Amino acid sequence: PVDSFLPLEEQIPSACAQIQDYPKEGILFYDVTTLFANPEVFRRAMDELAARFEGQFDIVAGVEARGFLMASALAYIAGTGVMTVRKAGKLPRDTYMKEYELEYGSAAIEIHKEDIPAGTRVMLVDDLLATGGTLEAATHLMKMADLEVAGIGVLLELEGLGGRELLAGNRVEALALVS
Ligand code: PRP
Repeated sequence: PVDSFLPLEEQIPSACAQIQDYPKEGILFYDVTTLFANPEVFRRAMDELAARFEGQFDIVAGVEARGFLMASALAYIAGTGVMTVRKAGKLPRDTYMKEYELEYGSAAIEIHKEDIPAGTRVMLVDDLLATGGTLEAATHLMKMADLEVAGIGVLLELEGLGGRELLAGNRVEALALVS
């Protein structure tokens, strides 16, 4: 259980399972699955993110996979629809695709072309901002589709990995900061 009286920026890391030396020595891994399973912290986090961007977006885009859980809740709160930013190879129609670098190798994400009208204001969400490669690629997809990125919302920002710098020019709201 997480102390109900803690501020949200402390509840969020507390609600994550923390695994020492995973995936390698010296790394403290924050596993958000326990946060999503915590009704109080999950609701509070989604209400807070929705409030920070209230009135500023027309749709919520979540990045596969944990961003989907957030996007759905945020859209429900705000009364908007959702977009899914998917790992490459899952979408059946014409897509925009963007590759990005991972620690080892690369990955690619996609959205369907022409589903959302040009100029639509998108709130982009994911669970975690680390190097920023994933969310930077997602902002690129939005530009390819002529969509406007209203802002980026994450539960956790990992300090010192350059994610915020890579996303410079975008409004980034992180509910908690960890190192
Ligand atoms: C994690 C996380 C973000 C991304 C953040 O996803 O959910 O999407 O990494 O890292 P970055 O800022 O360095 O790009 P992961 O790639 O593990 O994919 P998954 O959601 O399929 O587990």
